[in-house]
Amino acid sequence: MRRGAIVRIFALGIVIAILVTLVAVLIQWLPTSASEQMDRIAFVYWFATVICIGIFALVMAVLIYSVFTFRSPPEDESDGPSIHGHTGLEIVWTIVPAILVIAIGVISAVVLSQNGNAGTNPMTINVFAQQFSWRFEYPDNEGIKSGELVLPVDRNITFEMESADVIHSFWIPEMGQKQDLVPGIDTSIVITPTRKGTFALVCTELCGLGHSTMRAVVRVLSQPDFDAWVKEQQAGGGSDRSPAAVFTASCGGCHTFTPAGTSSSIGPNLDDVAAAAEKAGQDTAAYVKESIVEPKKVLATGFPSSNMPGDFGETLSAEEIDALVTYLTGAK
Ligand code: CUA
Repeated sequence: MRRGAIVRIFALGIVIAILVTLVAVLIQWLPTSASEQMDRIAFVYWFATVICIGIFALVMAVLIYSVFTFRSPPEDESDGPSIHGHTGLEIVWTIVPAILVIAIGVISAVVLSQNGNAGTNPMTINVFAQQFSWRFEYPDNEGIKSGELVLPVDRNITFEMESADVIHSFWIPEMGQKQDLVPGIDTSIVITPTRKGTFALVCTELCGLGHSTMRAVVRVLSQPDFDAWVKEQQAGGGSDRSPAAVFTASCGGCHTFTPAGTSSSIGPNLDDVAAAAEKAGQDTAAYVKESIVEPKKVLATGFPSSNMPGDFGETLSAEEIDALVTYLTGAK
C-alpha cells in the first residue's frame, strides 16, 4: 500500500513535470540571444526553471494525490488525526531548498561577475540619454557621434552612460544587459554582440511623457562593415542618414510631424512650421533652423518652458541640420 502510493505520486509527478516542461520549452519566453551576456543570463533562467519544475511537480503530485486519496465521505464531520512533526522530513525540506537557493545564488553571482568583465582591450561607447532620445559617441573612433547605435560583432564593448535629466534605463532585449542612467552618477555596462542584425534599444525606466517613444535603432555589423561605417561617419559627419531618419531619432519622440508618421505632443506640432515662422515674423527656413539650434530663443505658444535639448547644434552635423530644415519646411 505504501509502496503503491509512492509509485503513484512519482508517476503523477513525472506527468506534471513533462507538461510544465512543454510549456517552458514550446513557448519562446525569451528573445533569441544576440550577446554573450544574454547567453549567460538565459543559462541562469534555465537553471532556475529546471529547479522550479522539479519542486512544482513534487508539490503538485503530493497535493493532487492527497486530495483524491484522503478526501472524507460527505457526512464525515469528524476531525482528522492529530499529527506531530516529523523531524527527519523537516530537516530534509529545509536542507534541500537551502542547497538549491544557494546554488542559484552562486551561479547568479558568477554570471553577474562574468557579465561585468570587459576583458582586455574593450571598445568604449559613450551613451547620453535625455528626455526622450539617445545619443552615442565613439571615443575610440575619433569621437564620432551618432543617433543610431552601430556595433561591431564579437567585440567586448563597454558602454559608459550619462543622463542629462532624469533616470533612464538602457536595454536591448536580445542582448540581456540592462542598466539605469542616473543623473550625477556615471554607470557602465558590458555587451559582446554575437549576432549581426538590427535590434531596438528601448528606455525601460518611466522617464516622462515621451518614455514610450524613447527608442534607438541598434545595428550590429561585421568588423569590416563597422570600419566602413566609421570611415563614412568621419568623412561625411553622419550625412548618410536621411532627414527622415534624423528626425525619427532626434525629434520624433516629442514632435508630431505627419510626413514622418510621429504623433507625440510633448513639443509643438511641426506640421505647419510656416505659420509659426510668420507669427514670429521670420523667414520659415531661418526660423526652423534657429528653433533646432537655439530652441529657447522663441518659445511656441503653449510650451512656456522649452524642454528641448539645446545642443543639437553640436550633436547633429551642419548637413543634417540643413537637411532637417528642408525636410520640415518643404513638406508644407
Ligand atoms: Cu527614458 Cu523612459
